[in-house]
Amino acid sequence: MDMELAVGPGVLIPREDTIPLVLETVQRLKNFSAPVILDLCAGTGAVGLGVARELPDAKVICVELSPLALPYLERNLSRYGEGRVRAVKGDVLNGPDGLSLPLVDAVVSNPPYICTGELPGLQKEVRQEPRLALDGGPDGLSFYRAITNNWLGLLKPGGVAAVEIGNGQENAVADLLKTAGVSQITFSQDITGAIRVVIGNKNVCL
Ligand SMILES: C[S@@+](CC[C@H](N)C(=O)[O-])C[C@H]1O[C@@H](n2cnc3c(N)ncnc32)[C@H](O)[C@@H]1O
Repeated sequence: MDMELAVGPGVLIPREDTIPLVLETVQRLKNFSAPVILDLCAGTGAVGLGVARELPDAKVICVELSPLALPYLERNLSRYGEGRVRAVKGDVLNGPDGLSLPLVDAVVSNPPYICTGELPGLQKEVRQEPRLALDGGPDGLSFYRAITNNWLGLLKPGGVAAVEIGNGQENAVADLLKTAGVSQITFSQDITGAIRVVIGNKNVCL
């Protein structure tokens, strides 16, 4: 997306697979005025910066835990964030308590989503990535549970929830989102044709 992001040991190299997450989020937010967006498990900031670039009046808060990844995130935000994208150190598995975050118009995330037991069998190229960036827990869904249980309380009614997923996780993740009060759920594919994005809007209570 026309950005040269700084990477190094401890930070995941952003993948082309993640571009649909950015574009689908932008599409759903195009009628929002000055949206505030949370990018959970931000890594380099690829997702948050990509969305901010496409939505010039948006503000983005990037949440990341890894002390190794945070300096790269800060560097990328300084270079491309235009003062509209900020980083917060936080543990997504623990939720937002104590982080003093505002209500937001979108929660977007490309979290770790590989099952712990599958990590040793990954391609060499992927195994070189930090384990913290890959390990999605015993069934690969730990972060989606944390996001739907703990973070969607910050999402305004009508706001957008969008996540990247691993192969075959779409129905389980869609069910978690539905249980958390998200509807209008759609799936989008990556360039290989695999379903990579689950996106919806938080129900509006009438
Ligand atoms: C799959 S990578 C995605 C990075 C970036 N969003 C992207 O798309 O390129 C997942 C990221 O989640 C971070 N992470 C892992 N566990 C976390 C946690 N408990 N809380 C916050 N971030 C975490 C990792 O350090 C890593 O940067």
